[in-house]
Amino acid sequence: MSPALQLALLGATLVLPRAQALTCQRATREFLINVSEMPLRWKADHEVCANGWGCQDTLILIDNGLQVNIVLTKGCTPVGNQDARITEHRAGPGLSVLSYTHVCRQEDNCNNLSTTLPLWALPSTAGPGSLRCPVCLSKQDCESVTKMTCPAGSTHCYRGSIQLRGGGVFTVLRVQGCMSQEGCNVLNGTREIGSIVVSEDCSPNAFLTCEWGSELHTGRNLSRMPIRWTTAHKICDPGEVCEETLLLVDAGQSSVIVESKGCTKGRTQDAPTVSIHSGPPGVLVASYAHFCSSNRCNRARSTSVLLNSLPRPAAPTPGDLQCPICVQGSTPCPENPENVTCPNGTTHCYSGYIRLYGGGIISKIHIQGCVTEASSSLLNHTQKIGIFSVAENSEEPLEPFLQDGAVPTRLLAWVVGLGLSLALWCGMPLC
Ligand SMILES: *[C@@H]1O[C@H](CO)[C@@H](O)[C@H](O)[C@H]1NC(C)=O
Ligand SMILES: *[C@@H]1O[C@H](CO)[C@@H](O)[C@H](O)[C@H]1NC(C)=O
Ligand SMILES: *[C@@H]1O[C@H](CO)[C@@H](O)[C@H](O)[C@H]1NC(C)=O
Ligand SMILES: *[C@@H]1O[C@H](CO)[C@@H](O)[C@H](O)[C@H]1NC(C)=O
Ligand SMILES: *[C@@H]1O[C@H](CO)[C@@H](O)[C@H](O)[C@H]1NC(C)=O
Ligand SMILES: *[C@@H]1O[C@H](CO)[C@@H](O)[C@H](O)[C@H]1NC(C)=O
Ligand SMILES: *[C@@H]1O[C@H](CO)[C@@H](O)[C@H](O)[C@H]1NC(C)=O
Repeated sequence: MSPALQLALLGATLVLPRAQALTCQRATREFLINVSEMPLRWKADHEVCANGWGCQDTLILIDNGLQVNIVLTKGCTPVGNQDARITEHRAGPGLSVLSYTHVCRQEDNCNNLSTTLPLWALPSTAGPGSLRCPVCLSKQDCESVTKMTCPAGSTHCYRGSIQLRGGGVFTVLRVQGCMSQEGCNVLNGTREIGSIVVSEDCSPNAFLTCEWGSELHTGRNLSRMPIRWTTAHKICDPGEVCEETLLLVDAGQSSVIVESKGCTKGRTQDAPTVSIHSGPPGVLVASYAHFCSSNRCNRARSTSVLLNSLPRPAAPTPGDLQCPICVQGSTPCPENPENVTCPNGTTHCYSGYIRLYGGGIISKIHIQGCVTEASSSLLNHTQKIGIFSVAENSEEPLEPFLQDGAVPTRLLAWVVGLGLSLALWCGMPLC
């Protein structure tokens, strides 16, 4: 090879570092709007890039004729220059997918696309046809959808989900609309658009989204006063279902409730189930468990899903027995707690603990209270409660119901969210 040719090749493959770092426009935005609100404009921040990096713009429009989903990401990128380009991944009639991509280095803020206009100017002039299809664009579920007369040339109704991932974007869009083709192929084979990886799935549980998060609450009245149960959400891995589990331990003056929501493998759907593991009278241990497989189906909003199903005996008459009473997460009960008069019908004092593992929880709940039998086991050898593996007064290793190897990261996440109740948590693996 001649030295001149070698040089030319080198020149073609190297991105020569600029003397100074570029400043680029930066933004990550998503809009789901009415067609009537188009075209759309936006503002961007700025960021200073690493030496040699360029500025990128990626804009994706998914349009069903009534609504448009707009995904925008711009910022610094190590990728080589690419001319500004508009691509029609899926032309209409009906659903269409359009994108604009650009990577530049010629001057600061050269990734300056600020409106959908260059894409929206594309004509769409088909008259009405005879087919009618449900049309929907939604980040939740397409539950009640509008039916629309499709533009001429449409032959099929489409129903699927599109995932967009990368460049700070992580979205699943439920899509329904008119198509001129059969099949699950609204993306027409597209895998990547600029900095965003796109994928499509038309199965009913595509990119299942579940509510997600775990917490442990300590309080006086948790079996009577419902508390809010809200969480973040996440997209599950293939084959997973959604779960929600509550475990309540109430000894009278003292109670703990543990909440978990998330994705889990190896379970089938299971209608909501309330179980009373022990009491009343005496220490009440009760749980709520629900496994389901549609988007954000684990959406119980408060602990009343459990509390409303608890037995409500008439105000207990006091008995003769006195016992120390205490329920708390992680830290053992104090050595000489005050004694409390037990309800009539209880005959013994209980002192022990329940260990929990799974659904993002690793904890030990310490319990003292009144019970009805000398040999009382609060769980009666139950080993699974919803998503939790449980053991009572035993240090045997707990098999998690897992799912994800992600318990440590999830723990971290609640620790951040927990603030004051942090002290209730034990550290890692054994409490
Ligand atoms: C679009 O917006 C108009 C006015 O804001 C509203 O009446 C109409 O229902 C919207 N259509 C859709 C499909 O959201
Ligand atoms: C599908 O993509 C190809 C190029 O990849 C393009 O030529 C064709 O027009 C697209 N089909 C539709 C219906 O948009
Ligand atoms: C956007 O950037 C290009 C290239 O740097 C420049 O030629 C153009 O004038 C800019 N447009 C606006 C509206 O700033
Ligand atoms: C506990 O709940 C009961 C019934 O709702 C109420 O009468 C009582 O005042 C509550 N106690 C506390 C400490 O909140
Ligand atoms: C509480 O009652 C137990 C017996 O049920 C007794 O052994 C203990 O001393 C009592 N504790 C206090 C602080 O009164
Ligand atoms: C306590 O319960 C027993 C039966 O368990 C009953 O015979 C007795 O009357 C009850 N005492 C009070 C004060 O309610
Ligand atoms: C404990 O479990 C056994 C078998 O699982 C059952 O026969 C028994 O009735 C249970 N006891 C209580 C108090 O629920």
